Amino acid sequence: MPSTVIVGAQWGDEGKGRIVDICAAKADLVVRYHGGNNAGHTIMVGEEIFALHLIPSGIVRGKPCVIGSGVVVDLSALLEEKKNLESRGLQVDGNLALSDHCHLILPYHKALEKADEARLAARRIGTTLRGIGPAYADKASRRGIRLGELAYPDSFREHLERNVAEKNEILTKIYGAEPLCAETICEETMQQFRQIEKMVTDTSVLVSRALDEGKAVLFEGAHGTLLDIDFGTYPYVTSSNPLSGAVCAGIGIGPKRIDRIIGVVKAYTTRVGEGPFPTQCEEELAARFRAQGREYGSTTGRPRRIGWFDAVIVRKAARLNGLDEIAITHLDVLDQFDRIPVCVAYECEGERINEFPNLLEKLAKCRPVYEELPGWKQDTTAARRWEDLPARAQEYISFIERLLKVRTSIILVGPKREQTIVR
Ligand code: GDP
Ligand code: IMO
Ligand code: MG
Repeated sequence: MPSTVIVGAQWGDEGKGRIVDICAAKADLVVRYHGGNNAGHTIMVGEEIFALHLIPSGIVRGKPCVIGSGVVVDLSALLEEKKNLESRGLQVDGNLALSDHCHLILPYHKALEKADEARLAARRIGTTLRGIGPAYADKASRRGIRLGELAYPDSFREHLERNVAEKNEILTKIYGAEPLCAETICEETMQQFRQIEKMVTDTSVLVSRALDEGKAVLFEGAHGTLLDIDFGTYPYVTSSNPLSGAVCAGIGIGPKRIDRIIGVVKAYTTRVGEGPFPTQCEEELAARFRAQGREYGSTTGRPRRIGWFDAVIVRKAARLNGLDEIAITHLDVLDQFDRIPVCVAYECEGERINEFPNLLEKLAKCRPVYEELPGWKQDTTAARRWEDLPARAQEYISFIERLLKVRTSIILVGPKREQTIVR
């Protein structure tokens, strides 16, 4: 298997964890390149459910995993996830490396985000409150503290004290929140660091070497393309670049080292948090999807907003990521419907448009244009080959392929490992 990127092509929760798990069977290394523990990737093995947040999903297959420099790391969340996985028989020690360049999420990032979201009230982003945005903001404004710095406790302490003094001014004077204690944060962070110190290394060297040796490397995207800080529905986005193009900067490898890019798409559309969603449907209809698709956020437990498949957003994702192929997930959730509308374009002030508008002001004036396909009204959860699918389900997939001009290589018909069709 060459080096492969798995990227979400909608607003997240497309089923990336499942696709990584399938591809990881033949991978030598699984690598996260952006985001943090705002992600929630679910994998079912037998009746056991694993929810990965920060540790790459390849850990479930016992594969060596890497957290690259583009990822922001909350050490308390990392240790909790590690402990949880180990208590369930997975081997994390010896199978995980973290970049010394990773920026830390510290308690003040979470406190600031909580205060800010509360202050924004109706204009809030609906974040996961994991401190992701404030940590990336510190990275961009060159105040951030990197994992490697913890190997130099004196310099770390001094840097942290400066940051806490500044954040406390903001917390108390702007938000009227409680100040934080630098000493406590320093001690806790150093104590956490000692537990993972051996895992910290130059992961750019590690991944480059693996590629030089012809190893199969899997790059695990988090969130989704429409949550990309640059190309998503800004400001209702996350604070990193999920795009396939961000793999290189998020790890420290050259762009010619990527061979294959797989976009993961749900057979319909979901979104958690605030922001535009042109095909969102009423709650009564959403409830029908939610039961079968278990549409609750894997990180925050919030019910996901749900709508029909939107080819306009996925076409945009195909272009931005340079998708070679797509994996369609949750096909089984559509088994129940008589008719299945698919959004093929938007209508904006009397004009039909095929490209997703970049500005929310224009997007607000857009209405989906639907084409309806007949439902197949048959259980697909036992299908294991393309030929096992009802003709109308095959037609639904072929219709999406024609709209996107990208072929489908994997189809999922349920949350379990075996509910997979590889074409
Ligand atoms: P990710 O963040 O992209 O990895 O996706 P999540 O794990 O957050 O959300 C996907 C949810 O749908 C999880 O609960 C999965 O167990 C479940 N799931 C994944 N694929 C399928 C599928 O094909 N059918 C059904 N019914 N559920 C699926
Ligand atoms: P996975 O990897 C779905 C959304 C949040 C919020 C916005 C910003 O499981 O697909 P953040 O905490 O990142 O600053 O929140 O982005 N969001 C996700 N939605 N799946 C995710 O990850 C998400 N990660 C962030 O709900 O709207
Ligand atoms: Mg998720």
